[in-house]
Amino acid sequence: MNNNRKKIIAGNWKMNLTLAEGITLANGIKKCITNETTQTALKNRNTEIIIAPNHLALTEVVKTTNTSSIQVAAQNVYFEPNGAYTGEVSVTMLKDIKVMHSIIGHSERRTLLGESDEQINKKLLCLIKAGMTPIFCIGETLAEREANKWTAVIRKQLELGLKDLAVEDVPKVIIAYEPVWAIGTGVSASPEQAQEVHAFIRKELHLNYGGSVGDETSILYGGSVNAKNATELFCEIDIDGALVGGASLKIDDFYTIIEAMLKQK
Ligand code: PGA
Repeated sequence: MNNNRKKIIAGNWKMNLTLAEGITLANGIKKCITNETTQTALKNRNTEIIIAPNHLALTEVVKTTNTSSIQVAAQNVYFEPNGAYTGEVSVTMLKDIKVMHSIIGHSERRTLLGESDEQINKKLLCLIKAGMTPIFCIGETLAEREANKWTAVIRKQLELGLKDLAVEDVPKVIIAYEPVWAIGTGVSASPEQAQEVHAFIRKELHLNYGGSVGDETSILYGGSVNAKNATELFCEIDIDGALVGGASLKIDDFYTIIEAMLKQK
């Protein structure tokens, strides 16, 4: 890990948990981190904890985590401020309930719900304009990796997703590298595989935006991160944390992943 960049452990709850279950989980995480030792470690390590419940649970989870150092994120957002967009939620609505982060471009939305790079880019620009933080997901499929095409895929997703973003706004984006073949499969990328892609993303940012943008941007790894493999992933110099799915639904596992980050040298 690199000590200069912000570290992030984010839990993507996906379409799981009732409202009551979500509140219990948020309370459990809050309890685990509300002690002086953990609070000091989070501060010293410049580490942020983010949880992303479903839209219906956002308001209550924000209330539950209030005053703790947990940020609450939406799992998706629409790029128009309001209007006839049935089923969608805007940045204005999220800000109104004090939600300042949103995941965008998750591979489940790209593949199951047909979200395009163009739509993801509009969402990203809209979040930045609203002063919010996008957690922008990218990643290749197994077929693309096996055909040795991952560099081209990642380059294109970065180029299209970050299109028209001002250079100074790039480090405001949290990038999450999530190889599709590792999501929910129990087969994580190896630390070396993840590191290779993270270094590539950083280099692309450097080439496209120059200066220190590549060094300043936090890049998370996601895809079957769990209590056992978190430490070795976080040892890698370009991995700044994790976007955790399944393991973020269990308090003990999620807290162990947080601890794995806080114990890094
Ligand atoms: P997983 O999901 O940890 O269950 O693989 C990660 C994600 O989709 O963000």
